[in-house]
Amino acid sequence: MTANPLSANSNASLISPEIDKSAIARATPPLKLGILASGSGSNFEVIAQAIQNQQLNAQVQVLIYNNPEAQAAARAEKYGIPSILLNHRDCKSREELDTKIVKNFQEHDVEWVIMAGWMRIVTQVLLDAFPDKVVNIHPSLLPSFPGIRSVEQALKAGVKITGCTVHIARLEVDSGPILMQAAVPLLPDDTAETLHARIQVQEHKIMVGAIALIADRPTDKNVL
Ligand code: GAR
Repeated sequence: MTANPLSANSNASLISPEIDKSAIARATPPLKLGILASGSGSNFEVIAQAIQNQQLNAQVQVLIYNNPEAQAAARAEKYGIPSILLNHRDCKSREELDTKIVKNFQEHDVEWVIMAGWMRIVTQVLLDAFPDKVVNIHPSLLPSFPGIRSVEQALKAGVKITGCTVHIARLEVDSGPILMQAAVPLLPDDTAETLHARIQVQEHKIMVGAIALIADRPTDKNVL
């Protein structure tokens, strides 16, 4: 009998659509990415690594972070990627922050915006400046558990399978057309930390896989 790939005793996961490894470096010209990150930046780093390993034909033009403590900034330095702190506490509104983000991304010739652990609610200002080109990653199988503390929400709800999603961002928090998802089974002794750690292993795969999907499109066409 074939083992169930989503058995709670296995660390396996299910990713859909499948990652097409042969398509992964096909973008020409290279995609010009602008990254938004608020915290650790591990998803940002897998993107930078995939580019360095020539798995993705892209370049990170700039990292913008909103929290002076964000470890993402140190990761940017490691890869020689410029980074800019735009502290949301210095802005009077979400729109003011997004206006500054758009200005900086435009100055750095950004084509696609990747929210890699961006913990701010985006406004129409950002979405209008990059129509259908703002990508978000979220630690649940959307549309389940949008918003904050999604991993805790999934544990509390008693679901047996959760996961992560990469999608094109729309105005409503954590909504929009889905590019790629990975399913992750819960284990009996899971805490939010252990579950989030396993979800992040899958996030790192679908983050790169979804950017490859974007890249593998005719250059004059939108991904949708
Ligand atoms: C990731 O798990 C990402 O899905 C989540 O923040 C974490 C950032 O980790 N994003 C959201 O919750 C957005 N709604 P990282 O800084 O190590 O990439």
